[in-house]
Amino acid sequence: MSVSGYTQPLTYSPTARLFHWLTAILVLIMIPVGIVMANLEGGPTKDFLYNLHRSVGALLLPIVLVRLAYRLTHPAPPLPADLPSVLRWAAHANHWALYALLIIQPLIGWIATSAYRAPVLFFWLFELPPIWPVNRAFSEQAFTVHRVIGVAIALLVCAHIGAALYHHFIRRDGTLMRMVRGTPVPATAPGVS
Ligand code: HEM
Ligand code: HEM
Repeated sequence: MSVSGYTQPLTYSPTARLFHWLTAILVLIMIPVGIVMANLEGGPTKDFLYNLHRSVGALLLPIVLVRLAYRLTHPAPPLPADLPSVLRWAAHANHWALYALLIIQPLIGWIATSAYRAPVLFFWLFELPPIWPVNRAFSEQAFTVHRVIGVAIALLVCAHIGAALYHHFIRRDGTLMRMVRGTPVPATAPGVS
């Protein structure tokens, strides 16, 4: 029984899986689009990618906030009981760092863009309001932080995908399938707490 009063489940619910894969697809779009757009010569393609990046980033913020609220009220299934404590720690650190950075990163992007006074045209439909006073010098500094956090998220995602493949192909402990299909790992299975 967890502190929130929910019994710890044996797999991820359809809602948890929907949130996970939606976030994964959007983040996997954001990183390459961010890198490509920042290195392109000015022109319509660059403008298009900037609008796309800001729109998808702004969409990610409420999705990750709602996902985090869901996660805090719905515990995740336990990690395999025989997982070494260093990997157990690494898994939790990776997941919580991703939650935190995926909230901080769009906020910094929006703040830096506002300080620069560039528009955040949400999917070409309407403009989001600026959330920071105009300040070009501050905007440059905030974009430097945004680039560093972009690299940190990319590294965390690489480690995360590597870990998912390690669980699936080397440990063969059912961890990936409970996030893909929601396949429960029976409580009686060896190595499951
Ligand atoms: C690219 C962006 C991705 C992000 C931001 C992301 C984020 C997360 C987070 C925060 C969790 C923890 C869920 C929780 O218990 O609260 C998680 C779990 C998980 N993710 Fe991802 N993920 C991404 C991509 C992927 C990919 C591509 C795979 C598969 C190759 C994957 C496989 C998994 C699995 C199997 C779990 C469950 C781990 C467990 O049961 O302990 N993820 N992911
Ligand atoms: C989770 C969400 C986000 C992620 C993962 C992300 C990631 C990135 C990455 C990897 C870069 C490339 C940095 C480089 O190589 O120079 C970048 C650049 C940029 N991002 Fe984001 N970003 C996110 C959200 C946002 C949001 C919400 C906005 C604005 C509303 C934004 C505005 C920008 C801008 C304007 C740049 C270009 C900075 C420059 O020209 O140096 N980003 N982002």
